[in-house]
Amino acid sequence: MLSELEKLERFLKIKPLYFDLESKEFVWLDTRLLPFEEVYRRTKDYRRVAEAIKNMEIRGAPAIGVSAAFGLALAAQESRARDAEGVLRDLEEARKLLAATRPTAYNLFWALERVMKRARGEAASGDPGRVAEGVLEEALKIYVEDVKTNVEIGRAGSKLLEDGARVLTHCNTGALATAGFGTALGVIRYAWYEGKMVEVITTETRPVLQGARLNVWELKKEGIPFKLIVDSAVAFVMKRGMADMAMVGADRIVLTGHAANKIGTLQVALAANYAEKPFYVVAPTSTIQRSWDPGAIVIEERGREEVITVMGRAEITLRDVEVYNPSFDVTPPELITAIVTEKGIAKKPFSESLPKML
Ligand code: MRU
Repeated sequence: MLSELEKLERFLKIKPLYFDLESKEFVWLDTRLLPFEEVYRRTKDYRRVAEAIKNMEIRGAPAIGVSAAFGLALAAQESRARDAEGVLRDLEEARKLLAATRPTAYNLFWALERVMKRARGEAASGDPGRVAEGVLEEALKIYVEDVKTNVEIGRAGSKLLEDGARVLTHCNTGALATAGFGTALGVIRYAWYEGKMVEVITTETRPVLQGARLNVWELKKEGIPFKLIVDSAVAFVMKRGMADMAMVGADRIVLTGHAANKIGTLQVALAANYAEKPFYVVAPTSTIQRSWDPGAIVIEERGREEVITVMGRAEITLRDVEVYNPSFDVTPPELITAIVTEKGIAKKPFSESLPKML
């Protein structure tokens, strides 16, 4: 499994997170400090992993899912239970804490369920050591699969990008949002690696500035040409014909094709449609919830500090204003041209094409 990762090494120029098999620690790049400082943090404590997800040191749906899986591996490692049932109980406690970190990212629940299923399977042996080994192995599998999946998404999606394509994107969907390589930004990266000339227009993505901080950092590292725009310039830029398409990621997609993504994505979709440009959603199938109900998508609301300050640094308004800070919105299928996954490009009606991919 890890040898598979070696094969993917050339796609892992940026390593946002991994499990250190020697020290048995989970390691991650603190994305809150980018683009100014590159600081890796490490822990053996699953509670610290939960904290890092909650405060967005680690963010992006796939990265959250993979990190939570490693969080369970740390919990199993820490468990002092003498029997397999006892390890399962400790794991369940860790699962609850990790599941309570970010409510919208479907990959979080998908990964936690997958690892718990493996743990329950191993527990049948009665051997607590086997549960811990199985849980770590499953987390490593999820990690390697995520990188592999992203490269496959890149290969599939790159067909949508002609030489010279100008792509508008919102939020960060690159290596930093996954175990490596990225989804929507992974498509752009793949096309670039194929030798296509591409140009990115990235929004800043207020309030956490995933565009201004993280896309800028990643795109500069790759040498991919880009322009940074404020969020409110999207409609103008699309209508002016400065982008050929918009391409974004997703935190959760349901079988109807409704796609939740960073707040502001719905505005990007409306602008792209108004300008008669394609609007693509790019995500692994692990982001797809097997539900027909868009109402099942939980929208995270975050704290006031993100809105009344810039990254907690500069205050931009009065302290006592009332704030509403939804972190995600849902784009309906009628505004989406196609959904790209590792299985290929799903076209409308999504209610037919998406279930076939699962
Ligand atoms: O709040 P964030 O930064 O976790 O939001 C991230 C996004 O909205 C991404 O577009 C989505 O998770 C896909 S990441 C490949």
